[in-house]
Amino acid sequence: MSKGRIFSGMQPSGKFHLGNFLGALDSWVRLQNDYDCFFSIVDWHALTSSYEEPSKISSNIYEMALDWLSAGLDPEKNVIFVQSAVKEHAELHLLLSMITPLSWLERVPTYKDKLQQLGAMGKEINTYGFLGYPELMTADILLYKADTVPVGEDQIPHLELSREITRRFNNLYRPVFPEPQAMLSEAAVLPGIDGRKMSKSYGNEIPYAAHPDELSARVRLMVTDPQRIRKTDVGNPDVCTVYTFHKLFNKEETDDISSNCRIAGIGCVDCKKKLAAKMVESLAGIYERRLALEANPARVKEILARGAERARVVATATMEEVRSAMKL
Ligand code: AMP
Ligand code: TRP
Repeated sequence: MSKGRIFSGMQPSGKFHLGNFLGALDSWVRLQNDYDCFFSIVDWHALTSSYEEPSKISSNIYEMALDWLSAGLDPEKNVIFVQSAVKEHAELHLLLSMITPLSWLERVPTYKDKLQQLGAMGKEINTYGFLGYPELMTADILLYKADTVPVGEDQIPHLELSREITRRFNNLYRPVFPEPQAMLSEAAVLPGIDGRKMSKSYGNEIPYAAHPDELSARVRLMVTDPQRIRKTDVGNPDVCTVYTFHKLFNKEETDDISSNCRIAGIGCVDCKKKLAAKMVESLAGIYERRLALEANPARVKEILARGAERARVVATATMEEVRSAMKL
């Protein structure tokens, strides 16, 4: 029995890292057993800030599909598809834009922040499309009448707006859509190898589906307790990035490692070796599944094509209802 309908999406904006996996994808993999799920690679959203270099988007779409499938998202259980393959997203976006006051879009906090941030980097995104970013998200969600939307904290203001637009539509015409609820990921923010939030823009990431040698090399570069200079110094695991990772990937040994670190019973080099071995072991399935999929691009394309077909069936039915509610 399904607990409800889920929609979520991610922009195909380059290489995936372990933070993306633990912060989002890993929870999708768990949700797929309990909910009726639609997961979309939202390439039109990527265009709102990368309209100058659209050619990169198509290779990123393919890479993202490999990442999702190798994480264990099952194309039989879920509808996995590319947003632009289902044109109804654009039609619903247009119709919803008719009933959305400009001020609602302008006051979304992420809008002005991002405009400034990217403006400072010399990127011009003062466009109609970018202002409508959360409008397009709303169309994504409502097209499938999703009631549950797993997202990171940064997306909460967008979801608030989606709910307002939904209420407005249902009041103006007739109740067609459930009000979508955000489902916050419980995973804490994963630090990168320098201890700050793992992020591509800091260059501190551990790539997703990395080769075991690369994985070990990244672990060797992790920062430890800065007060612990010699192996004979006692350490404080609570300020050590390696220890944070032990808690995620080596639960059985965390108590041991913590107490040994505090009495200088284990050195950082050995502690990192233990961690690397555990990470290689627990991520081996992902690494191998991704290799196998890379060898079979036709299969990946077929999965996306089949996903788009299934998404279109639902999207077409919803649009019929929408047009009829609006007397179009
Ligand atoms: P981004 O590529 O930064 O837009 O992130 C895509 C998804 O991955 C979002 O749901 C984020 O919340 C999640 N994410 C990104 N970086 C991290 C991190 N360091 N720790 C946990 N989750 C993350
Ligand atoms: N804006 C989301 C992000 O950057 C991606 C997204 C697009 C999305 N459409 C969505 C998420 C609909 C949830 C529901 O993470």
